[in-house]
Amino acid sequence: MNLFNVYPLFEIEITKGINCQTYDVHGIEYLDLYGGHAVISIGHSHPYYVQKLAHQAEKLIFYSNSVVNKLQVELAEKLGKASGYCDYALFLVNSGAEANENALKLASFHTGKSKVIAFNKSFHGRTSAAVRVTNNAKIVAPINEGFEVDFCLLNDIDAVRASLKKGDVCAIIIEGIQGVGGINIPQPHFMQELRKACTEYGAIFIVDEVQSGYGRSGKFFAHQHADVRPDLITIAKGMGNGFPIGGLLINPMFKASYGLLGTTFGGSHLACTAAIAVLDVIKAEKLIENARKIGDYLMQELRNISQIKELRGSGLMIGIEFEQNVTDIRHSLLFDKKIFTGVSGTNTIRLLPPLCLSKADADLFVEKLKEVLTGTITTSSKQDISKIM
Ligand SMILES: Cc1ncc(COP(=O)(O)O)c(C=O)c1O
Repeated sequence: MNLFNVYPLFEIEITKGINCQTYDVHGIEYLDLYGGHAVISIGHSHPYYVQKLAHQAEKLIFYSNSVVNKLQVELAEKLGKASGYCDYALFLVNSGAEANENALKLASFHTGKSKVIAFNKSFHGRTSAAVRVTNNAKIVAPINEGFEVDFCLLNDIDAVRASLKKGDVCAIIIEGIQGVGGINIPQPHFMQELRKACTEYGAIFIVDEVQSGYGRSGKFFAHQHADVRPDLITIAKGMGNGFPIGGLLINPMFKASYGLLGTTFGGSHLACTAAIAVLDVIKAEKLIENARKIGDYLMQELRNISQIKELRGSGLMIGIEFEQNVTDIRHSLLFDKKIFTGVSGTNTIRLLPPLCLSKADADLFVEKLKEVLTGTITTSSKQDISKIM
């Protein structure tokens, strides 16, 4: 059987990872400034995380959601404290799309309505409702076109209010910081206005923190820079440091009832163990402070590079926009300098490293980027990486 060929691949086989370093099958080291698409939060194969997972795997990997699972309770308590949302409830799933799918469903149950306001350049996942509120017609199949969505410009509160006026909106969904769309930060005032407008019109305020959450922005959640409290918050990626787990933080105004939401695999013993280990390490190693500190340092160093058109970001979620297409730059960073980066659109390099990134790693990146920008961009491999994120 062949693999269904939907991913353009780098001809690199990564077989090992430690902290922010990854190693290919030949033992060549690559600095990981991409975190496997913002997934690696505490660093590759952190020893505490590995030991907790191994220990739990020996005891029990999975039992269904029909029995008591104290690991879920421990995770909810630790997540409540770490995020400042102790009074919210946690529903556990397996991925970011599934978290958004359940958030939209809950909003629709709660309000009895189905129209959603989302934003230009948004990305919320590929399942039915999540992809419907994603601003990319290419990945929306006819079967996904199930409900009405108004896409508004980010930071355009008048457009949002005009849409809300019709009284048929169940939810507004917005990323804490747009990731796939190019590291676009909603203005704090705009987030505050969205919060007010949702309360005024009885719409549910959903913030998707799948990519921007878990300390990446320098606070636990990116929306906390704007000092707002959403009704629903979705999480995944960094939550499990590579073990698939996602979740939904739910304001107490939502009343649970048996069967309202459900999943077979969500909140398994092994997944909860991974997520608990992540929170333990984030706290013990002060990784949110590190994300803020190293992120600020990196931004400051990058500001000195004249070829950069615009820098956007917060903490270790950074977009570096150039005048030109960045394919050759990324190509050279990866194949010549052995550094993984991400991309948004054609002209923006996206940095999403593990939160334990050191100053030395940041310096190495800046040095290598300068070399690439000032030197001749070599073409040691002919591989087209323009479509690889
Ligand atoms: C903001 C955001 N939401 C949702 C998703 C979907 O997450 P998953 O791929 O785990 O379904 C992503 C994935 O990149 C994302 O960046």
